Amino acid sequence: MVYTVLLPAAGSGKRMGAGQNKLFLELRKVPILIHTLRAFEQDQKCQEIVLAVKKEEQAFIEKLLAEHQITKVVAITEGGAERQHSVYACLKASPSKGILLVHDAARPFIRQEVIHRLVQVAEEFGAAVAAVRAKDTMKKVENGIIQETVDRDSLWIIQTPQAFKYDVLEQAERLAEKEGFLGTDEAMLVERLGEHVHIVESTYDNVKMTTQEDLLFGEVILTKREQ
Ligand code: CTP
Ligand code: MG
Repeated sequence: MVYTVLLPAAGSGKRMGAGQNKLFLELRKVPILIHTLRAFEQDQKCQEIVLAVKKEEQAFIEKLLAEHQITKVVAITEGGAERQHSVYACLKASPSKGILLVHDAARPFIRQEVIHRLVQVAEEFGAAVAAVRAKDTMKKVENGIIQETVDRDSLWIIQTPQAFKYDVLEQAERLAEKEGFLGTDEAMLVERLGEHVHIVESTYDNVKMTTQEDLLFGEVILTKREQ
């Protein structure tokens, strides 16, 4: 049960407001990108990693990989204007046609148990995504007015990793491109094929480093894991 990671890292981190790609910001003196790569570098079941990067950042990223002894990156490809394009570029550069695991480079705290469960479910059913249950009361709002309270038991917050059999993801990406459909995750593209996408319960600490306060959560998570 091995897998290949597709890691989109070609964003610009606008919401972080750091004036640079947020993946280069450091938690405990190690760039976020390296924290994420280490999760896979250290997992024996991870066969290889394909990265999508901005052209102008490639040389710097290659330097980081060498400096931090990341050895599993087998291909670095140029990302696109949207995350979906970057993921598709990774898929096209993937040397493997086995299980593909798409993961945001901006989620450095993914746990091995969740990865392994995702791979297992994707092998059996074709598609699996990491998710956590919504904790808050959820309401649908239009023009500032509550329309309805949505039953929380049926609501899940979707994360990455998202794991797929190669053919499932390839077909989904190809169809989306052909029809000019832009989704916010890969599951959306696979749902459009009529395939069942399974949920794998993940952990609340698999946070995406998106805004400044996420960096604080990140430091706390690292401290807790060291104890
Ligand atoms: N990403 C990518 N190519 C893009 C946009 C995003 O590879 N054109 C990557 C990011 O580098 C990140 C992941 O997709 O690892 C999740 O995206 P997000 O958290 O939205 O990161 P950014 O797009 O960089 O941030 P922002 O939306 O705030 O600009
Ligand atoms: Mg973005």
